[in-house]
Amino acid sequence: MITAKDFSAFTASRRSTRDFLPTPVDRAVIDEILADALTAPSWSNTRPFMVAVASGEQRDRISAEFCSRWDAVVEARSGFLGKLKLVLTRRGLPTTHRLIARPYPADLKPRSMKVGKELYAKLGVAREDKVARDAHWRRNYEFFGAPTVLFIFAHKSFGLFSASDAGMLTQNIALSAHARGLGTCAQGAYSIWGDVPLLEFKVPKQYRYLYGIAIGHPSGDPVNDFQAERLPVSEITLN
Ligand SMILES: Cc1cc2nc3c(=O)[nH]c(=O)nc-3n(C[C@H](O)[C@H](O)[C@H](O)COP(=O)(O)O)c2cc1C
Repeated sequence: MITAKDFSAFTASRRSTRDFLPTPVDRAVIDEILADALTAPSWSNTRPFMVAVASGEQRDRISAEFCSRWDAVVEARSGFLGKLKLVLTRRGLPTTHRLIARPYPADLKPRSMKVGKELYAKLGVAREDKVARDAHWRRNYEFFGAPTVLFIFAHKSFGLFSASDAGMLTQNIALSAHARGLGTCAQGAYSIWGDVPLLEFKVPKQYRYLYGIAIGHPSGDPVNDFQAERLPVSEITLN
């Protein structure tokens, strides 16, 4: 049994990895991590989620598709012709989870802006440097160089509760990977193009795509030392 102090130090030392080495991760290791993930609590033990694992050529194909859609979005922002192309071809427009492209609610926006500001500062990217910001965001579609990506699907039937179970699965994946010296980054950046994983995997129709998780060996890039603010407990507790 580990001590509470060890547990606190271990969970606190996990952070999102945003630069990976190309070193592959064996499928057997991924399966061990998923077995750990399945020890998370679940609504009536239903495990209302499914996971698709992409590595190698399949990972590269999916990444290329996401990158090409992102490039269409950037082109559309650059002027009238790009915009016209986006409207005519619809390539790059959200196909799923359009809500995440909307402005954040006023009470949550400051937290999101803070982490964005601090992350770009860590990357040495100025706020007004749209080109550099877009270039960093594009790295999401390269899975930050990770050799493997997991796509998480939640059962449509339980609504929020399926997503809650998928969240607990995700946290266990992140911690299990961390215990093995691997890094992860949950990625909602491509939740808007949920049709893409469907081109590659046979997803039962009762499941809905949520987000991806990049997984692999962290590089020594300073971005991996980025420490997002951890809120004081008082900020989330009600009186
Ligand atoms: C569902 C989900 C989606 C996320 N999407 C992205 C993403 O698209 N790109 C990214 O760089 N980080 C993404 N993150 C990582 C968060 O920004 C990160 O967890 C948060 O800032 C806290 O930092 P930490 O994980 O290093 O503790 C996502 C996290 C979650 C849980």
